[in-house]
Amino acid sequence: MLDQLKQLETEALAAFSVTENMNDLEAARVAFMGRKGRLADIMSQLPSLSNEEKRAAGQMANEVKAAIEGAFAAAQSRIESAFAELNAERAWIDTTLPGEEPGLGHVHLTTQAIADIMEIFSKLGFNRQRHPDLDWDYYAFESLNMPKEHPARDEWETFFIADPDKDVVQMGELGKVVLTPHTSNAQVREMQKGQLPIRMINIGKTYRRQATARHLPMFHQFEGLMIDENVSITDLRGVFDFFVKRFFGEGTKTRLRPFHFRFTEPSFELDISCTVCEGEGFVNGTKCKLCKGGWLELGGAGMVHPNVLKAGGIDPKKYTGFAFGWGVERTAMMRGGLKMDDIRLMYRNDLRFLKQF
Ligand code: DAH
Repeated sequence: MLDQLKQLETEALAAFSVTENMNDLEAARVAFMGRKGRLADIMSQLPSLSNEEKRAAGQMANEVKAAIEGAFAAAQSRIESAFAELNAERAWIDTTLPGEEPGLGHVHLTTQAIADIMEIFSKLGFNRQRHPDLDWDYYAFESLNMPKEHPARDEWETFFIADPDKDVVQMGELGKVVLTPHTSNAQVREMQKGQLPIRMINIGKTYRRQATARHLPMFHQFEGLMIDENVSITDLRGVFDFFVKRFFGEGTKTRLRPFHFRFTEPSFELDISCTVCEGEGFVNGTKCKLCKGGWLELGGAGMVHPNVLKAGGIDPKKYTGFAFGWGVERTAMMRGGLKMDDIRLMYRNDLRFLKQF
């Protein structure tokens, strides 16, 4: 039995000295010293020995146990410091290496256009005001000379907001709640502030029931409103020209085409000369792919209808004004001479597309 104990000690010390991680070390410890391990196995012979032999075996067993425990502790600290060293190596930073530059982003095409638009109009004293894109029927339609059930509303098919509890469209004193289809809802809201003269730009999100390659259900518009004494179509024309020349380039020509809107009288569609063929309608003898006959339509405008002024608490006999409303995405694309096959690319967050602007 004494020989067995000595043998056990030699084997255990050898096993501990080659373990490389805590799991293996623990497994070796259990194999030698565990309740059902090799030492316990040897010690189970004890009862069959004489008293003298028992004493000698007991003493030897204690010495072997101490030696093995010592070897275990040594192996444990060896493994621990090896891991600490490895970690330190991993965490080490070489400050002399060239850094990895994080990619610099830039603002979205739409945001760029909004900033440029605002910069130009602010030179003429227009201020950006914020008006809601979730609004009452009254501001989106009724106050703009579009009574309930009027067919003019059909053009602006929109999203009405339902009361989640009752599953019916929410109603209030000012009608239904609507995701506004145009930024014109800002007009009467701005007038109701009661401060004249007005030179407002309202840029916001607008919503329409459309989702095709050419139409987004959400897009942006910017709405201009100028109200003062003696404001005339000439002023509208001047402001329009000023903007167009700065935004699209000095050589750009403008045109007002008669049109009809309920909230302006007279009303116009505003066109600019095509940014690709420069108003010629042809590029190297072939028809321009962007425009129709040299002109691009920018948006609507007109002299504010007396009924709209009245809704805003303004005396139409004393004050006149003009308003306009254009799509931001459209305006931005026209500047780049872009004809996108699929306008939904604008909001798909594909960096390969966005990085081009
Ligand atoms: N709200 C019109 C639209 O979305 C655009 C518009 C036309 C705005 C004439 C105006 C305006 O302010 O005077 O199509």
